[in-house]
Amino acid sequence: MNARDIDPRLGDAAKAFLASKHLALIGGQWVGAKSGKVFDTFDPGTGKVIAQVAECDAADVDAAVAAARKAFESGPWPKMSGSERTKLMWKLADLMEQHADELAQLESLNCGKPLAQMRMGELMFCIEVLRYTAGWATKLNGETIQISTPGNFHAFTLREPIGVVGQIIPWNSPLMMAAWKLAPALATGCTVVLKPAEQTPLTALRLGQLIQEAGFPDGVVNILPGFGPTAGAAIAAHPGVDKVAFTGSGEVGRLILQAASGNLKKVSLELGGKSPVIVFPDADLSLAVPGAARAIFGNSGQVCAAGSRLYAHAKVFDRMVEGIAGEAGKIRVGHGLEAGTQMGPLVSKEQLERVSGYLDQGRRDGVNVVTGGNRIGTEGYFMAPTVLTNTRQEMSVMREEIFGPVLCATRFDDEDLERIAREANNTIYGLAGSVWTRDLGTAHKMARRIRAGTVGVNMHGSLDPAVPFGGFKQSGWGREKGREALELYTEVKTVVMSLG
Ligand code: NAI
Ligand code: MG
Repeated sequence: MNARDIDPRLGDAAKAFLASKHLALIGGQWVGAKSGKVFDTFDPGTGKVIAQVAECDAADVDAAVAAARKAFESGPWPKMSGSERTKLMWKLADLMEQHADELAQLESLNCGKPLAQMRMGELMFCIEVLRYTAGWATKLNGETIQISTPGNFHAFTLREPIGVVGQIIPWNSPLMMAAWKLAPALATGCTVVLKPAEQTPLTALRLGQLIQEAGFPDGVVNILPGFGPTAGAAIAAHPGVDKVAFTGSGEVGRLILQAASGNLKKVSLELGGKSPVIVFPDADLSLAVPGAARAIFGNSGQVCAAGSRLYAHAKVFDRMVEGIAGEAGKIRVGHGLEAGTQMGPLVSKEQLERVSGYLDQGRRDGVNVVTGGNRIGTEGYFMAPTVLTNTRQEMSVMREEIFGPVLCATRFDDEDLERIAREANNTIYGLAGSVWTRDLGTAHKMARRIRAGTVGVNMHGSLDPAVPFGGFKQSGWGREKGREALELYTEVKTVVMSLG
């Protein structure tokens, strides 16, 4: 890029990175795509090109898988103890902390997140997930097993790394998705071919440089920017990949499954959601109103666990809707790098069109737009925080993941928890949900009845590295974070010995 085109709000380090070449990391080397192709990456706050990035495809995936295989089978990585892997992961976390401003600026520029939220929020969770998960590298124990067969035996299990792992991540929280995926793979001793989303390749590439600086052996982490149907599909289908981990749409999740069937590679999926926020009449509305607003407007609604369906009891429904609309009106929507911005743009023109399409369909179906419902401005991809009422179950706005700042509000006047839960569970998804009440009994009973991977009580969702995250139903397979994440990256080996 020409230096004068670079956003002046960026610091020197981010500017220097933007001005550099954006190549793929394969076997410890930064290389262009074999085809020589590059693609543009954009600032969604302006719609302008900010950098060109190597466009990897199947040929580059072959090279990256070969490098990852070599690193898995020979060289220093498989010989390292868990403790040595822990140290490398902490080194990487420390480097991320040292470069936090630069990483936050690059992320904000490339995907539109408000800089302060990225710097103080998500980035901290990226760093903490590395540190937390690093601790498990020294605790990958098996069990001793009691044998039922007569005779003298000694049986035990080992937990071994699954092998070469393909990781395909989305654009809504690019660095956090990279950290959630890489941490358990590195802790368990796997090697990785990581593909960032085509919309947001930059922070993964900067992370690749820090991974090298931390001293991970060559080929342990390979990073291939590129598109889904080419690079992504090649990773999912590759016979040399032992496992693929994916976060993104259900549509692509299904394609990944099909591609994975060739060599029956293991698959974990984190797909979408349509998560309910259930507000009981005894809830503390001074918490529930801002909590529900954050649950849907955070990251411009581009969050898989977003609280996109509000179910509020008739006694508090009007106050909830007015309160959330009031919060929406106060949100400062703007460029991610602009000081004071509270909500940034959607990630792309395509995403703006998708969200606008849902709103158009909702209007045709008869929804009432309480606030928002429109694009803001003509430059960049800004969408006003939106609250809809008169939504009915059969409408697409109620059934499908919009992935924008759009809340569907519905009232209930039931006292029967079973029926309330049935309505909240009336979705193909099961990623998250929250219950807002002061009654401990209601909280516990509802937490058990909601069919979702994460239930919040008087809060919605948690990014903490220790809590498992993933979906029931069509929201996915497997759990990331926490101890559960290790299960996605290890095989259990049984050793049985005859002692004679
Ligand atoms: P997507 O599922 O197409 O993209 C996610 C990742 O998958 C990207 O890295 C992409 O390059 C890759 N990919 C795309 N096609 C592929 C293929 N055939 N084989 C392998 N990898 C492939 O998501 P998209 O189109 O960007 O967004 C569409 C919708 O998906 C959103 O509106 C939202 O509803 C949902 N979504 C959910 C996310 C979540 O966190 N669960 C994240 C991103 C999108
Ligand atoms: Mg797609």
